[in-house]
Parts: sequence; C-alpha cells; structure tokens
Amino acid sequence: MKILGIETSCDETAAAVVEEEGRILSNVVASQVELHARYGGIVPEVASRQHLLSIVPVLERAMAGPGLDWQDLDGVAVTVGPGLPGSLLVGLNVAKAIALARNLPLLGVNHLEGHIYAHWLEVEEGGGAPFPCLCLVVSGGHSELVLMRGHGQFQSLGRTRDDASGEAFDKAARILGLGYPGGPAIQAAAGKGKASFRLPRAWLKDSHDFSFSGVKTALWRLVEEIKGGDPLPVFDLAASFQEAVVDALVANTLETAREYQVEGILLAGGVAANSRLREVMGERSILPVLIPSPALCTDNAAMIAACGCYHLRAGGVAGWDLDVDSGLRLG
Ligand code: KG4
Ligand code: ZN
Repeated sequence: MKILGIETSCDETAAAVVEEEGRILSNVVASQVELHARYGGIVPEVASRQHLLSIVPVLERAMAGPGLDWQDLDGVAVTVGPGLPGSLLVGLNVAKAIALARNLPLLGVNHLEGHIYAHWLEVEEGGGAPFPCLCLVVSGGHSELVLMRGHGQFQSLGRTRDDASGEAFDKAARILGLGYPGGPAIQAAAGKGKASFRLPRAWLKDSHDFSFSGVKTALWRLVEEIKGGDPLPVFDLAASFQEAVVDALVANTLETAREYQVEGILLAGGVAANSRLREVMGERSILPVLIPSPALCTDNAAMIAACGCYHLRAGGVAGWDLDVDSGLRLG
C-alpha cells in the first residue's frame, strides 16, 4: 500500500509517499522559515500564498524521487486541521484534485494525530508503541496530553491553558534576541550555558493542564532587571528557560502516566525534537519513552501519510465534502 501525504497546515509545504505504515519512499519539506523570520512569526496570508507557489513542485519531487506514477498510489492523505484555514485549504484542494482525477480514496488527517503517527514511521511492521500509551504532543500551537488506547482511539487528558510550549520557546527567543524559530535557537544557546536562574513552573492543581505564560513573563521581568546593569547572560537565561519548560512537561507527563497506568510514553510534535526534553524524559521515566527522530518530530507529510494508512485500513475514507477545521481537536 502506497499513500501520498500532503501537509500545509502551518509554514511548511510538505508531500511524502509512505509504503504501509513504515517505509518512507519520499519526504519533501519546503520550509517558509526565512520568509516569516523577518516578521518574527508566521503571517497567515503570506503562508497560504507561499503554499500555492510551492505545492506543485513539492508534489512533483515527492513523486519523482522514488520514480512513482500516479497509478502507483492507493490513497491520498491530507491534513484538515488544526492549523491556518487558508493554508489548510491549499493542501486539501490539491489532495481532492488528485484523488478525484485518479479515483483514489481521500483520507482526512488530524495534524496532531499525524504527529503521533510519526512514531510508526520508524518501527517494524506490526510493532510500535504499547497500548495504552500516553502521548505528549508539543508543537508551536499545542501542548496536549492524550491517552491512546489503540489505533485511532484518543482521549484528551490535558492541554495548555495559555501559550503552547513551542510558542513559549518562540517568545522566549524573541525576548533574548535569538531569532525565529525559537526552539532550535534556545536549544543551541542553552547548550552553551547553565540553568543558573530559577524560573517558575506552573503546577495546576487537580488538572493535567499546562501553563507557560508565567515562565515567559518571569523571563521577561528578569531580562528587564538585568538590562539596566550587566550584559545579558543570554546562554544561562536560555538554559534556565529550557529547564523550566522541560521540567513542567516531564513532571506532568509522568504524573499523568502513573495515574492512568499506561504502558509507555510517546512524545510528538516540533518541541519533541528538543534534545534536553528527550534526555530528561528518558532519565526520569521508568516506562519506555518513544520519540521519533528529530526530523520527523517537526512538521512533515510522511507522518500524515502514515496516519492515512491506518485510516484507510479502518475504512475511514472521506467524502468530497471534506472540509478544513482550523480548531480540530483530538479525542
Ligand atoms: O510541530 P511543529 O513543527 O509545527 C506545529 O505544528 O506548530 O512545531 C513547531 C514548534 C515551534 O514552536 C518550534 O520553535 C518548536 O516546535 N521546536 C522546538 C525545537 N524544534 C522545533 N522547540 C524546542 N526545541 C527544539 N529543538
Ligand atoms: Zn505540527
């Protein structure tokens, strides 16, 4: 089974072909990072226009790389939400056009579910995370704890009440003058510093939710205080911020995992590429911790295709009235 995946929910135009759940035949990602960097964040209108320009060349590369023809495909999977509506519409309409022209099943994929399925890209046929497992999905727009009882069976247990963790990394990088996107910039700066400043961690009582606006504000206050006198210890501040966010993510995840007696922990989304998060989760968890390789944590279409394989097997084929849903939830 060969599935074409298409992902245009945010600032990456991506197409990939995946065989069964696991084998990646092609995985093309055209990043718009440079385009948005001058604004310090994503400009939705600019993003959707760039998707329009990039999508056909990206698709052609994804098909030509492994020497595939349209008739080699068994389905077209596409992200329908959550994300930027104008951007999602570009991917969905291209997917519909291909599916209609080639008489292929159309498969609508939740972007967060796609992130989780990045894990199944790197496992043997029939292998993969043990169920039930607890998924921590951390990206630019989401920080969610999701209980996964089986394929396609999700229950949301907690989410962020304010900023997503990736968003917090991006804002902290802006405060420290480290540029955009913030996650990789903070990680690189933190590697040269020490977590010598104590920043607050928000523990929300009787809840599995997260909150990251407090730590961001505390960092901002600290920077304002220091600014008056000494040069800014940017590396130590970055390390301290990273430590606070990682600590909050790991502590809540482990506590929730204990409460729900899961068999494993699965990390997904762009922030799961963070080396400190990967390290600390692995050190502190007694359960197996499964994390896709960093390049498969950030947005890509291979994860959408992998998820599409499961949808097709389960008979989850969409109709032509399939629409985007910018606020789509998981579970
Ligand atoms: O999943 P993703 O690629 O796109 C969304 O669905 O949002 O996640 C992007 C987010 C950005 O906020 C970015 O700063 C963050 O993931 N990120 C990281 C790292 N790499 C990407 N955060 C921390 N450490 C990283 N190494
Ligand atoms: Zn994402």
